[in-house]
Amino acid sequence: MVVIKNKCISVSYSDPNFVIVVVAAAAVLLSLCVVPVSAAAAKQELKLRFGRNGEFKILQVADMHYANGKTTPCKDVLPSQVHGCSDLNTTAFLHRIISAEKPHLIVFTGDNIVGLDATDAAKSLNAAFAPATASNIPWVAVLGNHDQESTLSREGIMKHIATLKNSLSQVNPLGAHAIDGFGNYDLEIGGVKGTRFENKSVLNLYFLDSGDYSTVPSIPGYGWIKPSQQFWFERSSAKHRREYMSKPEAQKGPAPGLAYFHIPLPEFASFESTNFTGVRQEGISSASVNSGFFTTLVAAGDVKAVFTGHDHINDFCGELTGIQLCYAGGFGYHAYGKAGWKRRARVVEATLEKTEKGSWGAVKSIKTWKRLDDGHLTAVDGQVLWSKKSSGNRRKKQIPIT
Ligand SMILES: *[C@@H]1O[C@H](CO)[C@@H](O)[C@H](O)[C@H]1NC(C)=O
Ligand SMILES: *[C@@H]1O[C@H](CO)[C@@H](O)[C@H](O)[C@H]1NC(C)=O
Ligand SMILES: *[C@@H]1O[C@H](CO)[C@@H](O)[C@H](O)[C@H]1NC(C)=O
Repeated sequence: MVVIKNKCISVSYSDPNFVIVVVAAAAVLLSLCVVPVSAAAAKQELKLRFGRNGEFKILQVADMHYANGKTTPCKDVLPSQVHGCSDLNTTAFLHRIISAEKPHLIVFTGDNIVGLDATDAAKSLNAAFAPATASNIPWVAVLGNHDQESTLSREGIMKHIATLKNSLSQVNPLGAHAIDGFGNYDLEIGGVKGTRFENKSVLNLYFLDSGDYSTVPSIPGYGWIKPSQQFWFERSSAKHRREYMSKPEAQKGPAPGLAYFHIPLPEFASFESTNFTGVRQEGISSASVNSGFFTTLVAAGDVKAVFTGHDHINDFCGELTGIQLCYAGGFGYHAYGKAGWKRRARVVEATLEKTEKGSWGAVKSIKTWKRLDDGHLTAVDGQVLWSKKSSGNRRKKQIPIT
């Protein structure tokens, strides 16, 4: 549905589970506005919301490594699986998992295409994301370290992704003229329509470009999240906090946040095998320097979990200083993997609390599990990532009386 409102184009989609309202979202839409739009109004106004069942579900797809489709062979599958295995198996898995989970949002955390093998980047991107664009489910993507190795630059790739159907991805925040990388943006998830939380973002999602490779000659290895991006994150987090803690329904602390990017932070290496859920079957390939983003996240206080890809045969979640550090595990068949170890994806589900009046309130808990491409889409490693403290009000712990 397209309606003309205040001389700007606004588009809205609706579905039993979610409603997105797009108001003058992209530059292309802004150019259609007759009346100049203020900087504040020009901010990202895409609105996702919790469904009437009080849930919001996110599917994370890491490292599709898509190239040219049928002619691109699978890597690291069992000898018996080599024949007839290609990028199309990645596509089939994506179709299956979308229909099984019916997420409200799909997040692709980079290395969506593997540039060196993709002859035409735009074509590969279109094919890689085709199950998402066909699903009518909103989706977003960030860049990995391989996406740009074909015919498009990192900027070109993000620009292309931002224009695809149902994509809520942004090249960079409007008004942030000096930010490193491409694909730094945030999304607000509103409370249930018709409740006291309908105009508040009860869950904030942050997407960042973790770069590709170091461009500093004396520092080898992968890229990292730069100070300009961390400043942007801090400002966004502070803004979300201010809004959440203001009327109506002023809250006592910030709404929970989730951060998605490609390359794991050095802190992913802090766990013993007893400290995480899932597996660690290879080293943690973070940048060789620590740019301090983990510390920035801890200081900001709202982000409860970080989700990355990059290391395809690691799929764990471990908690450090109140933040869950999670891998999704590799998804794509043309990506390296481990023969016999199933390709997989991570699902995150946030659930709202019931208010005293029987309506939906703030986020109560955030759960996760993974699904394997084993024919049954077996769910494994279910765990609670975060839950709201019952901040001492009324809900006294029941102590048995003897
Ligand atoms: C790849 O897809 C083909 C065609 O559907 C199927 O026969 C084959 O089992 C799949 N391979 C793997 C490893 O899933
Ligand atoms: C949300 O915003 C709309 C439009 O401004 C307003 O009509 C509605 O009353 C607001 N809801 C709440 C709970 O404040
Ligand atoms: C890891 O687990 C051990 C015991 O299993 C515990 O003593 C230690 O504090 C944990 N470390 C972290 C970082 O959670």
